Amino acid sequence: MPVQQSPIIKIGILISGRGSNMLALANEVNRGRIAGAQIALVISDHSTAAGLQGAKELGLKTLVVERNRRSREEHDRETVAALREHQVDIVCLAGYMRLLSSYFIDAYRHRILNIHPSLLPAFPGLDVHRQVIDHGVKWTGCTVHFVDETLDGGPIIAQRTVPVLDEDSEDTLAARILEQEHQVYAEALALIVSGNYEIVGRRVMGTDGARNGALVSDTL
Ligand code: GRF
Repeated sequence: MPVQQSPIIKIGILISGRGSNMLALANEVNRGRIAGAQIALVISDHSTAAGLQGAKELGLKTLVVERNRRSREEHDRETVAALREHQVDIVCLAGYMRLLSSYFIDAYRHRILNIHPSLLPAFPGLDVHRQVIDHGVKWTGCTVHFVDETLDGGPIIAQRTVPVLDEDSEDTLAARILEQEHQVYAEALALIVSGNYEIVGRRVMGTDGARNGALVSDTL
């Protein structure tokens, strides 16, 4: 009997700027560490996004979908159409600096992931590292979560913690967190691509022997 091939899960990545998380995901896919996944498309809402060049160098298909004074939903309709045209199954936001319309969220419900540089639900929104330092917390981190209609509030897939040091500036803290972002985003995507999880209320839990213990590990 022929071996049954698992279908390839196609990933679309949305960026607005540097794109280091996008490159980390693409590299992990290339190394075969996200079994069954393929990056089908990288979309930026800015033609000047530095990440576009990096994506091209990796041979990824890129597309610019600019807002051009359209409403959020009109812009999102073009983005969703492009994702569908490339048969994208899962969307990863990676430094995508736009809120999504409910049209977009409905089109890919529970299939849109985002990475945020704090331990949600603490410090959602912008200017995160400044807020973390000013608040005086001793630990922070990063969170991969599903995107829903709330700001950085969808079900949490994975988190990593990092210490906040007395001498930290926003830049040193951001760099320490970014290193963890690159790892945890790939781990979280691998879990979602595997399909070995279930969402119960707000909880994303591993099934089928999949353990997501690693998804909460810290860096100590
Ligand atoms: C990351 O810190 C991510 O958590 C946040 O935006 C930043 C994007 O960085 N959402 P990059 O473009 O992936 O390098």
